[in-house]
Amino acid sequence: WHGSGEDRVKVVEWGSGFLMSVQDGASAGKTLPERVKIVEVGPRDGLQNEKTVVPSEVKIHLIDMLSEAGLSVIEATSFVSPKWVPQMADQVEVMMGIHRRPGVSYPVLTPNLKGFLAAVKAGAAEVAIFGAASELFSKKNINCSVDESLQRFEEVTKAAKEAGVPVRGYVSCVLGCPYEGKVSPDKVAQVAKRLYSMGCYEISLGDTIGVGTPGGMTEMLQAVSREVPVNALAVHCHDTYGQALANILIALQMGISVVDSSVAGLGGCPYAQGASGNVATEDVVYMLHGLGIQTGVDLPKLMDAGAFICRSLNKKTSSKVAQATCKL
Ligand code: HMG
Ligand code: MG
Repeated sequence: WHGSGEDRVKVVEWGSGFLMSVQDGASAGKTLPERVKIVEVGPRDGLQNEKTVVPSEVKIHLIDMLSEAGLSVIEATSFVSPKWVPQMADQVEVMMGIHRRPGVSYPVLTPNLKGFLAAVKAGAAEVAIFGAASELFSKKNINCSVDESLQRFEEVTKAAKEAGVPVRGYVSCVLGCPYEGKVSPDKVAQVAKRLYSMGCYEISLGDTIGVGTPGGMTEMLQAVSREVPVNALAVHCHDTYGQALANILIALQMGISVVDSSVAGLGGCPYAQGASGNVATEDVVYMLHGLGIQTGVDLPKLMDAGAFICRSLNKKTSSKVAQATCKL
């Protein structure tokens, strides 16, 4: 893959040809979106979980490579407490250092008004608030109950509305919680509805610990889509149990066309021990292109970004596509 340009082309063509035949069967009777928006969360969800401090220049270079690869939404960093998540303490340097490509959005996480104000000061043009469908996870992650978090988020959405800043909302633990176990789809639907009602333009449903199966995903999405329009929903799948691509396919079949993923499959949450990385963006793009779904992403360039961050972190990629093509 990294050697000659010839190999690179061969790999991509082989991938597309193979998956076109899958498309015929998979899409029979189901409507899939023509285009999917990928929300790349690697620089935030991926790097927040690294044990060693990743230099800001590496983060900036990664974000620039990802925008060069055609990703239109790249979650850049978090304006959270550096005592809670030291890996994101350089958020201002990162926001100041990236080369902002026209048409690309660089949202950042903001847990409260303090984070929101700091984010806007650093030039953030979009933010994300992050709640949970589990009380214990909420307490561990943002140190308050679900209700308290929603009150804080109201302050953020109000300030954001006044400043003209779009807000995305996350619901974590939608298919299971590391502290409470099973999470009720109705609880997920209630939290998603509250976030949507307070003005979030999109609600990302997070399988934070990657335990969900297509069965659970179907049940949860049925409950949530009764409360929030399906075109305002996204899925955010960690891949701990290897179910992420299957879960994403279910979401696509149910009308969702926004998918969060992380280059090289980096990721995890410091407050959800044992959770592995997000589904790898390379693997999602490979699947989507094979289904004939447009993403605007250049897979070879994306894989270069994945190779860069893995070299910088001295770790192996979790992307199956990257692993397979490296052997060719
Ligand atoms: P707290 O300790 O309850 O906050 O933390 P506090 O209001 O009592 O303030 C304590 C100190 O924090 C004060 O400083 C504040 O100024 C400071 P001190 O006086 O002690 O020097 N502080 C802040 N500093 C910087 N930025 C801020 C901020 N707010 C207060 N925004 C807090 C509450 C929410 C701040 C904390 O719990 C926190 O930062 N949590 C973030 C945890 C996190 O980032 N988790 C990972 C992201 S979520 C995730 O990964 C899931 C997701 O991927 C979806 C999925 O997979 O499901 C999104
Ligand atoms: Mg996550």
